[in-house]
Amino acid sequence: MKISVVLLPAELATIHLNSHQAVVFDVLRATSTVTTAMAAGAGQIHFFASPDDALAARQRFPDALLCGEKGCLKVAGFDLGNSPLEFSRDVVAGRSILMSTTNGTRAIHAARAARRLFAGSILNARATATALAAHPDDIVLVCAGTDNSPALEDFIGAGAVVSDLRKIAADGNPDISDLAMAAYYAFCGAADNLQAAMRAARGAQNLLAAGFSDDIYHCSQLNAVPMAVPIDGAELATLPRSVPINE
Ligand code: MLT
Repeated sequence: MKISVVLLPAELATIHLNSHQAVVFDVLRATSTVTTAMAAGAGQIHFFASPDDALAARQRFPDALLCGEKGCLKVAGFDLGNSPLEFSRDVVAGRSILMSTTNGTRAIHAARAARRLFAGSILNARATATALAAHPDDIVLVCAGTDNSPALEDFIGAGAVVSDLRKIAADGNPDISDLAMAAYYAFCGAADNLQAAMRAARGAQNLLAAGFSDDIYHCSQLNAVPMAVPIDGAELATLPRSVPINE
C-alpha cells in the first residue's frame, strides 16, 4: 500500500484515481462540517461545485436543507452556512443536505473517480485511517487548499491520518511518500496544541475575521467523531447510513 498526499486538487490530474482510495480534507471547514453533520444523524449529503447547482438540485430534493458558504458566509437564501456548529442533531437528523462551498465541495468533485472516497478531518482521523486500512489499495490524501493555495490545516489533517495508518495499515509496512511523511511530522509537531497550529493558518484568519472563532476549536478536536464518512463518487453524495461506516 502506497500513501501519498497532494497539496491541491489540481495535482490529482497525474494520479490514476480509479485504482486509489482518496480522502478529501477541507479541515476549515467543509469536511469537518460534513463529519459533524453525519455524526449528528444527517441523512445524506449531496455535494455541488457551485451554489447555483445546489439551488437547482432543490427541485429534485424539495425537503433537503441547502447549505454552504461564499467568503465564509452563508449563501443568501440557503438554510445553513458552513459552520459545523449549525449542524446540530435537532437541525439535521434524518435530513438530506445539499452542500456547496468554495474549496471543499469542489475538491470532492475533483476526487470523484477514486475507487473509494472519504471526507476526512481531524475530527475523524482515526476512523478514516481504520476504514482505509481495511483495503489494500493505494491511498491519496487530498488537501483542498484555500483558493488554490495549499492550506496548513489540511496538511495537518492528512498527517493525522498518516499517523494512524503507520500504526494500523493492513500490510504493516506502507510505502509512505516524502510529502506524506512531511504531513505526518507536521501533525506530530502540532499535536500538543492543534488549535494553536490551526489558528496560524490563512483559512483560520479568514474565519476569525468573519466571526467564526469557535469553529476553529471545534474542528481541532482530534478523533472526537469515531465515524468515517464514505462518499459515493458517482452520485457525489455520502453513502446511506445503512452502509457500515467503520468497516
Ligand atoms: C471551503 O470549502 O471553501 C471552506 O470550507 C470555506 C469555509 O470554511 O467557509
